[in-house]
Amino acid sequence: MMVQIAPSILSADFGRLADEVRLLSEAGADAIHVDIMDGHFVPNMTMGPMAVSAIKKATHLPMYVHLMIENPERFIEKYVAAGASLIHVHVEACVHLHRVLQQIRSAGAKVGVAINPATPLHSLEHVLDLVDQVLVMTVNPGFGGQSFLPSMLPKIKTLAAIQSQRNLPFLIEVDGGITLENIAAVKEAGAQIVVSGSFIFSSRNYALSIQSLREAAMTQLSSLT
Ligand code: DX5
Ligand code: ZN
Repeated sequence: MMVQIAPSILSADFGRLADEVRLLSEAGADAIHVDIMDGHFVPNMTMGPMAVSAIKKATHLPMYVHLMIENPERFIEKYVAAGASLIHVHVEACVHLHRVLQQIRSAGAKVGVAINPATPLHSLEHVLDLVDQVLVMTVNPGFGGQSFLPSMLPKIKTLAAIQSQRNLPFLIEVDGGITLENIAAVKEAGAQIVVSGSFIFSSRNYALSIQSLREAAMTQLSSLT
């Protein structure tokens, strides 16, 4: 199965965000991954609901809004109103995660839960039936351009095994440090959606970057070894 490519706009030119999103949409992206950071949950700040609604006008693609913020329950409805198709909240940021996931569903968006590298999968055990996506962080959140953590591959594999054993419909999205060198491994581990920021924005030809990621994802690892 082809992996979906969701470019992260964290590495885009913030002076031309709407144009960048339009270019990504024309370049064949499957979704736009929007990183929201509050300077508390992660040591960086990006944008808020007003910016999201401004860039939503530039694309018909689904926008996956990745909330790297404390107490995300305060903002769910605002990001849905701003155009979020799916909202990821971090398990580490929610005291009442089960309730927040229900809140996202009630607000009319698809439901995502994100998990940091150090957080064990069993913290999601009782909510996997509530979500449409699980976002597995393969870097420590807060910045683009970091190196992929290969130690996360067994975690993705275990999550994929749980997905099939429990016959749950959620998709596995992988986020952080994805390049041509590691996308085949994350796909083989079970990723169905791949986020890429700095790799895609490292070239001005976004269509070529996205296409090369798709092709690299299809490379049989056996041919690489
Ligand atoms: C990091 C963000 C990621 C990041 C991905 O906190 O959640 O989405 O922007 O960018 P790259 O692909 O450059 O790691
Ligand atoms: Zn992200």
